[in-house]
Amino acid sequence: MPALSEERRLPIDSEGDIITARQIGREMASRLGFSMSDLTLIATAISEVTRNIVDHAGRGEIDLRVCENGKLQGICIAAHDDGPGIEDVELAMQDGYSSRDGLGLGLPGSRRIMDEFVIESERGKGTNIVMKKWKP
Ligand SMILES: Nc1ncnc2c1ncn2[C@@H]1O[C@H](COP(=O)(O)OP(=O)(O)OP(=O)(O)O)[C@@H](O)[C@H]1O
Ligand SMILES: [Mg+2]
Repeated sequence: MPALSEERRLPIDSEGDIITARQIGREMASRLGFSMSDLTLIATAISEVTRNIVDHAGRGEIDLRVCENGKLQGICIAAHDDGPGIEDVELAMQDGYSSRDGLGLGLPGSRRIMDEFVIESERGKGTNIVMKKWKP
């Protein structure tokens, strides 16, 4: 499949799905020509948002696709769930905030890793995250 039309939608509800999403995203980014260290970072961000789906929402899905912005090519990752949502998104985005016994680094760490990161969440309405990384 040509890199430009590549898109994968994956259901997420188990540890195995997290691993699959991580691998598929890493392969897609690899075909785009990202560096080894960027591949690790991208895989980490995919792990964190998919792990949050499993841990905090139970189930959801992730879309992985190649995207463009002018001359830039990159990977676009959209995570969606219909779980409980986040009461205070600003608080959840801070380093060290966790509603359970987590490190509270998943969301802020992913935002730092990616070039673009948008989160929309509302209590009772689920969570949507779109994050993008452009190839230098
Ligand atoms: N998809 C989600 N649905 C509901 N709440 C979420 C979701 N993702 C994150 N949260 C909330 O945001 C908080 C911060 O998320 P973050 O990933 O930064 O930390 P964590 O998951 O608690 O710990 P860890 O460092 O292990 O990831 C979570 O504790 C949880 O309350
Ligand atoms: Mg987390």
